[in-house]
Amino acid sequence: MDEKPNSKNNGQMAFPPGPDEIIPYHLALKFISNPIPILMEIANKYGDISHFKFGPTLHVYLVNNAYHIENILVKHNSNFIKSPGLRLAKRVLGNGLLTNEGSAHKIQRQLVQPAFSRSRVKIYGKIILEHCLEYVDSTWKDSMVLDIHKEMTNMTISIISKILFGTNNLAISDIDKISNSITTIIEYINKLRLPFLRFIEVLPLPLTIRYRQALRSLDKLIYAKIEERKETAESRPSNESNSLPGGTNESQNTGYFDMLSILIKSSDIKITENNDESTTNNDKAAKMTNQQLRDEVMTIFLAGHETTANALTWTFYLLSQHPQVESKIIGEIASVFGNEGNIDDNGDRMATFEDISKLKYTEMVLMESMRLYPPSWAIGRQAIKDYALDSRYVIPSGSVIIMSQYLMHHDSRYFSQPWRFYPERWSTEFRSSIPRFSYFPFGGGPRSCIGEPLAWTEGIIILATILRKWKITLEENAQNVKLQPIATLRPKNGIRMKLHKR
Ligand code: HEM
Repeated sequence: MDEKPNSKNNGQMAFPPGPDEIIPYHLALKFISNPIPILMEIANKYGDISHFKFGPTLHVYLVNNAYHIENILVKHNSNFIKSPGLRLAKRVLGNGLLTNEGSAHKIQRQLVQPAFSRSRVKIYGKIILEHCLEYVDSTWKDSMVLDIHKEMTNMTISIISKILFGTNNLAISDIDKISNSITTIIEYINKLRLPFLRFIEVLPLPLTIRYRQALRSLDKLIYAKIEERKETAESRPSNESNSLPGGTNESQNTGYFDMLSILIKSSDIKITENNDESTTNNDKAAKMTNQQLRDEVMTIFLAGHETTANALTWTFYLLSQHPQVESKIIGEIASVFGNEGNIDDNGDRMATFEDISKLKYTEMVLMESMRLYPPSWAIGRQAIKDYALDSRYVIPSGSVIIMSQYLMHHDSRYFSQPWRFYPERWSTEFRSSIPRFSYFPFGGGPRSCIGEPLAWTEGIIILATILRKWKITLEENAQNVKLQPIATLRPKNGIRMKLHKR
């Protein structure tokens, strides 16, 4: 390893322990294609704080300690920006919430927040339920074998499309267009992660052409919806509040009060610029330009479906391997739904938003599934100023920090039998006994997931709705199910599962 500029020990500067060499090119490729085992090995060997060089210049710190993670993500978050890896996504997401930085991010977060309020999530819950039933009833047949990851991806893309644009304002052809474009864009961005594939960008290859077409087509659709909504907004009475419309028939209003309308409307709210260096707040009105609205919509499309689809995929897979957990969840669903209330075409009572809070065991199953298979498996940050991590180490400006949910969630310091799927561990006492950042599937601090309440609602409703009617079994050898940790933690080559009507 090169000189040791960083430690205050003995007047010398030193790096934390770590592989004592620059990660060579072949290892770098291995790292990019399957980073989890390499990071686990480093953490096991070198402990809570380790360091390695990625290529000749980039210093990387692997931080595997709940206290330090909390400091980085929450207390000292202004010392960092997102990691360089995410900048690739910027060409698609522009300055949407996920990729924005500094005061511009703070303003945008306030403008986007109303679209994720509790009352909105309640409306979205209805859309999720209706669409999940419609999707399953129209496409799933008894004894069908399908790739559950593909199914969950299609389902969550069409759900987020309906949430964004309204159930009544989207033709089936629009949803197909959105789904195809998003899949093409994600595949392309994933390929660009491999440095030797970056050259494809300048070549007129079918892959590059397809990506550009997909982006153009999605942009066109988003801008058209923005214009459409702005026209509708102008024709609204000016004294209309941004709160839920009165009356109980909310579903009739879901077309009108779709997420895009809320985003457009929230441009009128007063935002607070809280300056870190002073305690003064400056209230001012902010307007989102069409470009900014497009970036937020694109971000919500991309951030809002794949993570949820992965969480559901891994949960169905785990349930297929743990029949006793499956029976328990089915028992809970039966006891919550009983027979009274809204009845669907098959004579079953339909789930409501209120049911979600009663499905405690279902929530524990989802929690445990996201512990073992965190859809966001690592969070990266880059220091913009030197950062004193503790009394021993100063992380130099420009260094990258990796904090991995996958590593932390499998750490036996916090979770006994960490590889066991054991939803019962999530008792209230257990939850309050572990450090906040030993389990952080949705990140934390000012950059935490804005969609978390929606993700829980969506996950629980889809699980309950599907499990009530379908048993899903694994159609391949469990050994063949492999991880693919790219931007999110997917199953490599999907998971083939068989449907059995209950
Ligand atoms: C199981 C599902 C989900 C998981 C595990 C998840 C995870 C995460 C994580 C870990 C972050 C923080 C990344 C960082 O700190 O670098 C994040 C940010 C974000 N997520 Fe999610 N997410 C999920 C669902 C959703 C949904 C449903 C939406 C929207 C519909 C969404 C929208 C966003 C946005 C916009 C950000 C950026 C927030 C900001 O920086 O202000 N996510 N998500």
